[in-house]
Amino acid sequence: MKHFIYFSKDAVTSGKALSQNSLMRAGRMDIAIHSLIQGLFLSHDFRTDVKFHFVFYGMPDPPKHIEIQVKENTVIRKKDVGTLIKKILYKYKEGEKHEVFPGCFVEKKSFLKVVEELAPKGVPSVRGNINTEGIFILDKKGEDIRKAEIPKDCVFILGDQEGLPKKELKRLKKIAISVSVGGKVYFASQVVVIVNNELDYRGV
Ligand SMILES: C[S@@+](CC[C@H](N)C(=O)[O-])C[C@H]1O[C@@H](n2cnc3c(N)ncnc32)[C@H](O)[C@@H]1O
Repeated sequence: MKHFIYFSKDAVTSGKALSQNSLMRAGRMDIAIHSLIQGLFLSHDFRTDVKFHFVFYGMPDPPKHIEIQVKENTVIRKKDVGTLIKKILYKYKEGEKHEVFPGCFVEKKSFLKVVEELAPKGVPSVRGNINTEGIFILDKKGEDIRKAEIPKDCVFILGDQEGLPKKELKRLKKIAISVSVGGKVYFASQVVVIVNNELDYRGV
């Protein structure tokens, strides 16, 4: 399974906040949506081997972790992803990871916890007891993604227009490797396209 984790400090964390604001004013939900589309959609098809995670820290009820994987009976349309996110946020249930629609979950969980839970465990590693293999921070200054070994189970972490938060980044660097997709600063959604394309070329 391939995972993208998209972090946003400002994306709103309730269905009501999303309905009361335009996508841009809802903590740049438009950027989150573009990134998800590039993560999960193909022309006339879906990437069913990708889970897209949002971790939102905006008001009024942070943090919210939304996980979306397209399953056989998931109803998702490119023009309507905002409505889907709104419905998922509305259906949040305190104290549980709630499956709102097939493959679509919402829960309260911190950014680092989401990453740590996806980190493969049990295999000894040079960086503490978390296996760093397969966890990548997307960062312009990282090592060239074309030179990185990428296993079938892999996690790619990226930020919104503000990037990733410094404090969490320091912790993440202990369990993940930074990779770059080029010497320019790309839109988050463009980075997702490039990573998916790199994995497609490799048959990962
Ligand atoms: C629009 S960029 C964020 C720009 C923000 N001002 C910063 O300096 O991080 C959105 C995200 O895309 C990813 N990104 C952008 N350019 C990249 C590159 N060349 N290589 C790898 N990741 C990149 C990073 O994860 C970044 O947080």
